Amino acid sequence: MERIYTGKTKDVFKLEDGNFLLKFKDDVTGENGVFDPGANTVGLTIEGAGQAGLRLTKFFFEKLQEKGIHTHYVDANIAEATMTVKPANVFGKGLEVICRYRAVGSFLRRYGAYATDGQELDAFVEVTIKDDEREDPPITSDALDMLGILTKEEYAVLKEQTQKIGAVVKAEMAKKGLDLYDIKFEFGREQGTGTILLIDEISGGNMRAYKDGEYIEPLKLEQLMLAGE
Ligand SMILES: Nc1ncnc2c1ncn2[C@@H]1O[C@H](COP(=O)(O)OP(=O)(O)OP(=O)(O)O)[C@@H](O)[C@H]1O
Ligand SMILES: [Mg+2]
Repeated sequence: MERIYTGKTKDVFKLEDGNFLLKFKDDVTGENGVFDPGANTVGLTIEGAGQAGLRLTKFFFEKLQEKGIHTHYVDANIAEATMTVKPANVFGKGLEVICRYRAVGSFLRRYGAYATDGQELDAFVEVTIKDDEREDPPITSDALDMLGILTKEEYAVLKEQTQKIGAVVKAEMAKKGLDLYDIKFEFGREQGTGTILLIDEISGGNMRAYKDGEYIEPLKLEQLMLAGE
């Protein structure tokens, strides 16, 4: 198997049939040993974190598949902490699409003069560029179009898909008494067909969730979500 990318939390391999294999590692993002889903550095290693992230990812991708939403998901091997996916080409060097239901994290840091902590937001969508060096700057639809990263039509598709997928995730979490505050997704164009697909993962490390007003850590979140599944 050829390793084509070494990521912060996953490694990517190319399989003989052309599909990709994502290997979930036990490294999680954060700073100084404290987890932060928005951080651009690996802050700590937690045994079992990769497997737990994959279990939740599998859970959500299978729910999305049932609803006919286009994703890269093929199958998952929990014991090996690997997921087989359809290969996609990301937009530019990669984008993150964030859906916000409450004002926390970087939204609050940026707009704190106008927004209050935990203020309700109406599935607000924003896009950031994956660029660790420049700390993942937010980018507008106009700039994405102007820079040749994404057309306005494609932006509209991403926004709609993000709100639709976010709603599915939020509803599943609500069933377990968890309140989703924000979540980030990645999309790409399927190699061969060009279809816009949801790619990457949907785990505790990609979202902020609260229970009875208290923030829930990714591993705890995964336990709560998967209990009884
Ligand atoms: N179906 C797919 N086709 C192509 N690339 C994919 C697919 N699914 C995920 N990826 C890419 O695989 C990589 C996984 O690595 P990892 O999650 O560790 O991320 P990273 O890029 O290092 O940074 P970050 O932690 O900020 O997401 C990401 O670059 C992601 O965009
Ligand atoms: Mg990633």
